Amino acid sequence: MQQHNALREALSVAVHSPSSHNSQAWELKVTDNDDGTVLELGIDRNRELTALPGHRYEMLLSLGAYWYGLAVALRARGWALDCDAEPAASGRATIRGRMVPAEVSPDSKNDAALITERRTDRGAYAETPIRSDIRDALADAARTRPEWAPATPLPNVQLLTGSDELAEVAELTRQFAPRDFLHRKAWKETVHYLHRDAVAASASDGFSYGQIFGRRPWPIDHLVVALTSPALMPFIGRAGLADKLARGLASAVETGPGFLVLTAPNTVRSSSDWIWAGADMHRMWLAASRVNLGLHPVSVLLQHDDSRTVLEQRLGLSGRAFFAARIGHRLPGRVGTSAPRRDPLAVLSTPTAGTSAAN
Ligand SMILES: Cc1cc2nc3c(=O)[nH]c(=O)nc-3n(C[C@H](O)[C@H](O)[C@H](O)COP(=O)(O)O)c2cc1C
Repeated sequence: MQQHNALREALSVAVHSPSSHNSQAWELKVTDNDDGTVLELGIDRNRELTALPGHRYEMLLSLGAYWYGLAVALRARGWALDCDAEPAASGRATIRGRMVPAEVSPDSKNDAALITERRTDRGAYAETPIRSDIRDALADAARTRPEWAPATPLPNVQLLTGSDELAEVAELTRQFAPRDFLHRKAWKETVHYLHRDAVAASASDGFSYGQIFGRRPWPIDHLVVALTSPALMPFIGRAGLADKLARGLASAVETGPGFLVLTAPNTVRSSSDWIWAGADMHRMWLAASRVNLGLHPVSVLLQHDDSRTVLEQRLGLSGRAFFAARIGHRLPGRVGTSAPRRDPLAVLSTPTAGTSAAN
């Protein structure tokens, strides 16, 4: 079937979408009926992050990011997704759309290529300030939904570049980031997705110690892996490691040159609103990549209601902050390493759909 060929190709693009912990907790049901091919995307319960309150949002944002990647990749192959505006009757957090033939716009192929090139850049950025026209372009990208997306409330983009603002965010990072390491269940979940550098190359999800802690000679690498294990981290973390790691992240935040926060109006409540916010986030991230800006999400600030509220108040943000990231121009030759991905067909929920989409 023509649409299954296009779908199979689009899956291999969409798998490059960002997801929290690179968990890729995406499950796609493909149904063929008289109306054509219907896609329904939900959270893969076996891969879902659940340890922290903020993970619910991160999973929905990651779904939206994938759906956006899939829709753009399908468009580049002559198919649009005619999306349901209403949440599924099942009550599950899902998003549905029917594949309908569409013109291939000149930009859609470039947009699809960009999806496979975008990556998280956790290193240092150039000192070059982020120009105001670029700032406007990012805000436009987040707020300009394609015609196939429903009109749920749009996010606002705040780009902080002043040294006082960056120092404020850095201080909050210093204060709250240790929680990432000291919360037993959350750290265990993180370590599940954290692979030794030597193993990361053959992994299909998660990230490597090198990506998070920087590359080190192998004896030190072994030590880092041992000290940060879920068994030892509660003790070593409290003995100073959690604060040290938090200070490192805070210093990267303070150095700038920018910190970006996406906020959603308070009317954004339903799962499907959050999924669309994830699509907006991905579109904005792609726009940043297009102008060689790197992003490094710092979600620890948003994962607990108290830290998120303090961030919103101190920065005078209106609405709910749902995505926070360091941002800056990439240094020449310093493109972030690509994170591993699962087999693109592994998202398919039923063997029947898997077989037919693969044929
Ligand atoms: C909702 C969301 C939250 C994220 N939070 C963090 C974070 O706190 N720290 C981090 O280093 N990366 C974070 N990331 C980036 C993911 O780890 C990254 O997308 C994933 O590892 C895949 O790598 P890639 O973006 O380079 O393709 C987040 C991504 C998403 C979508």
